[in-house]
Amino acid sequence: MIHIRDIAAYRIWRANLPAGARVGFVPTMGALHAGHASLARQSLADNDYTVVSIFVNPTQFGPTEDLDRYPRTPDADIALLEALGVDVVFMPEAKEIYPAPPAQITFGIRSLDQKLCGATRPGHMNGVLQVVCILFHLIRPDRAYFGLKDYQQCLIIRQMVRELHFPLEVVPCPIIREADGLAMSSRNRYLSPEERQQALFLTRTLQAVQAQRETFSTPAQALAYVQAQLPHWPGVRLDYFEILNGQDLSDIPDLDARWQPVAFMAAFVGKTRLIDNLPL
Ligand code: PAJ
Repeated sequence: MIHIRDIAAYRIWRANLPAGARVGFVPTMGALHAGHASLARQSLADNDYTVVSIFVNPTQFGPTEDLDRYPRTPDADIALLEALGVDVVFMPEAKEIYPAPPAQITFGIRSLDQKLCGATRPGHMNGVLQVVCILFHLIRPDRAYFGLKDYQQCLIIRQMVRELHFPLEVVPCPIIREADGLAMSSRNRYLSPEERQQALFLTRTLQAVQAQRETFSTPAQALAYVQAQLPHWPGVRLDYFEILNGQDLSDIPDLDARWQPVAFMAAFVGKTRLIDNLPL
């Protein structure tokens, strides 16, 4: 595996690939786990070369969020990617990605940013699009892999690729979970043993909503059910629970299959904010 830290070196590597070689790309913020590994495996299966980036992107963190304490485990990350057979790990410095901050060019997102994490983390999706756009231009992949754990992120990036005619395919990948159902996340490392137990609120409640979907006539009834569970989970503060159209995140009147409804949740467990979702 080749370690590349600067853009010039990457460009030389990219320019010397055989004609027609397919490049798969997995952007990450490091602290890698089996969820990231599944994206890399899919890319390795689909493409001639796989590039994984590790970059904790400052522009997608709000002023009160966890940029400084975000977990950084470069040695373990490199060992994992090496074992998977990844071709290139791209680990740029912030000053190379953003030579003259604050960036002047920003992204405006209309309806896709009005719900869920877009609404509760203002500016977050703008920061994600900014870095993903920059990385797409630098890496020049044929396919890019994103996890459905960050469902809204996946939809917004797919939309950017469509509207701005990026010459690449966005490949959404399934959520990888721990044995007890907790969605894997770099932020799970923050959880104390008690918080780890309380974190099961997300999966357990989403699964319960899915199992009882016939009994809810509207998304509001499902929300009332979720709120009624909160007293059993004293370590949890609900950020949002919404059931939306899985295609475009629009509101839906009922849980009819034609809306392709997806239940979305974000919750704080202690200071750690976790997200999860489940198609109903
Ligand atoms: P990060 O949180 O490191 O996630 C990198 C990729 O791994 C994302 O596409 C995410 O959806 C996927 N992923 C995370 N946990 C997963 C799980 N349990 N199962 C499947 N896939 C999972 O998402 C980001 O970084 C950043 O916003 C980024 C796109 C890199 C831009 O900075």
